[in-house]
Amino acid sequence: MHRTLIVPTAQQSSATELPYPDEYFDAVFTDPPYYDNINYSALSDFFYVWLKRSLGDIFPELFTTYLTPKSKEAIANPSRAESAEEARKFFEDMLKKAFKEIARVLKPNGMAIIVYTHKSTSGWETLINSLLEADLVPIASWPIHTEMKSRLLAKGNAALASSIYFVCRKLKRVETGWFSEVKEEIKKYLQDRLEQLWKEGISGADFFISAIGSAIVVFGKYREIKDFQGNRITSVKLLEYVREVVTDYAVRQILHNGIAEELSPLTRFYILWRWSYAEARVHFDDARKLAQSTGVDIEKELGRGFIKKEQEYVKVLGPQDRKLEDLEDSQELIDILHKSLLLWKTGMKEEMKKLLASSGWGTKESFYRTAQAISETLPKESQEKKLLEGFLSGKDRLISEVKNTGQRGLF
Ligand SMILES: C[S@@+](CC[C@H](N)C(=O)[O-])C[C@H]1O[C@@H](n2cnc3c(N)ncnc32)[C@H](O)[C@@H]1O
Repeated sequence: MHRTLIVPTAQQSSATELPYPDEYFDAVFTDPPYYDNINYSALSDFFYVWLKRSLGDIFPELFTTYLTPKSKEAIANPSRAESAEEARKFFEDMLKKAFKEIARVLKPNGMAIIVYTHKSTSGWETLINSLLEADLVPIASWPIHTEMKSRLLAKGNAALASSIYFVCRKLKRVETGWFSEVKEEIKKYLQDRLEQLWKEGISGADFFISAIGSAIVVFGKYREIKDFQGNRITSVKLLEYVREVVTDYAVRQILHNGIAEELSPLTRFYILWRWSYAEARVHFDDARKLAQSTGVDIEKELGRGFIKKEQEYVKVLGPQDRKLEDLEDSQELIDILHKSLLLWKTGMKEEMKKLLASSGWGTKESFYRTAQAISETLPKESQEKKLLEGFLSGKDRLISEVKNTGQRGLF
């Protein structure tokens, strides 16, 4: 058997200026930074100063600078730019340049594997636009669990467990796709894909980004997508549609099918939030997008009920964060549930039964299934979960008592 010995070589350069000729590589593999997620060069300085002492004489060309070189680092670092906006733009330009370089050095039938993750959807819009501008067309995507659990719990903010691996080729893209047809194509493709992701146990925000990765494979093959009036459909709009499809699927699955249609948009929003982010706070723009996909206008709901804005973040209040007197007039399922849990917690069982009977929720299966679904989405240590578990443990008896309360008359 003939064997070719390949001697690997390592070369240092910026991904935006690769020192190789056109169409040189069969494959390129890259894992770029994601906006401001990690300040790599600052972290590297710690190692750099020690490596410089130990290896500086052997590789002097790698240690010419005092600390690690920073000017071409592809991150969004406001301290290196005039403003946060400029910093974002710098990162986005670098990402685009790097993808164009990949396309340039890749053979016509070569393959690029690009690892990406970002919890904000605007991060995804940038990725899509940069890839497509470079004529790298994703042909497959797969989520891989890459993050440590300790990081996921960091600072009470929502975080992701997976990165999405995109397989891209330099393909000629179809000139125009029609929005109504592309929507059908996305829906059909996602049906199987979501099922597969669900079976793999991918959940919450990771489920959304995995679905986005899959949908890019569908719409990435079109150079341009238009509606029948000739308007160009932006990636923002495409992602909105993807979120709607995913929301619909996820809510049905979380509720084990059947009752999703009976629930109000606010209840669907609450369930989906707990499943996606548990009790974490989330950037306003992402909260708005999640709300939109369930038919809730978040601006209208802010401060009125369980949705609370804290600077640029949004938090969804649990029963333990609310007061009985703030829950007086609402007939919304979640408010009745929260009020019931607070009454149950303070031992006001009779008031709780009256509330459940008068609101009509206390005898409805959808009420208890919603409560059960919320409980299943929450981590063991959650106060809300403990309250729900306690409340639901006497469910059958409670339903018959609520029925009796209703028959006896409420007051
Ligand atoms: C997400 S990390 C890759 C992590 C790597 N896959 C690992 O598991 O250790 C992104 C890397 O891109 C590097 N980077 C940033 N700007 C770059 C540039 N202009 N050219 C090449 N690499 C760059 C960062 O220093 C960082 O190491």
